[in-house]
Amino acid sequence: MSEETIYGKYEGDLKRIIDDLSRQIQAENVKVKTETGFKLFEHFLARIKTDDSMREKCQRKNLPLTAQSALKEIRDAIGIRIVCGFVDDIYKTVAIIKQMDGVCVYNEKDYVYKAKPNGYRSYHLILEIETPFEDCLGQLPGRYFAEIQLRTIAMDSWASLEHQMKYKHNIKNPERIAKELKRCADELASCDLSMQTIRNLIAESGD
Ligand code: GTP
Ligand code: MG
Repeated sequence: MSEETIYGKYEGDLKRIIDDLSRQIQAENVKVKTETGFKLFEHFLARIKTDDSMREKCQRKNLPLTAQSALKEIRDAIGIRIVCGFVDDIYKTVAIIKQMDGVCVYNEKDYVYKAKPNGYRSYHLILEIETPFEDCLGQLPGRYFAEIQLRTIAMDSWASLEHQMKYKHNIKNPERIAKELKRCADELASCDLSMQTIRNLIAESGD
């Protein structure tokens, strides 16, 4: 038998919770598409943080390697990324997620309105979800956290490339690269604004 992960006996429930949450959010996308003819988002990704990454994060934060650290102290064991076509769709999707059953907002950060100094843009929601499964504190209904990141396609491409480059530690001129990355993020944000304007113009001209 293989070794247990840091999630211990809660791993199976984590999978059920992420599947259920994914189904719920994707059903909202279908509903909006049927009602309006427009999708809320283009791409949807869901993952449970790997055992290795979760252990590494616990160590980095000086937490004991327990299910409680992984599920209660760290809040992104369940991670969902939603990639939207337009900036407005991020806010529409956030509003829809907030009113879903059994979901309560634990924390939110709007790095779309106010980008991080390096140029990173995304809307982050930490949800606390009420589930029919007992959690690691013995509560029933159990409460589980999920991190939802919402971005446009442009923000997502920037974040992926910037993330890859973070792992290159032997680059010669990090200041220059950081400056270029920031400039690129701001140019993409300006494009997102133009795309939104174009979409609004098309919507207004329709009958
Ligand atoms: P942790 O990083 O999860 O400990 O939480 P935090 O309190 O720093 O939260 P924050 O909302 O800043 O970041 C959470 C997640 O957003 C990260 O794990 C990344 O996936 C993503 N993120 C935040 N900042 C950046 C960034 O500068 N670049 C990229 N590529 N991703 C980022
Ligand atoms: Mg962080």
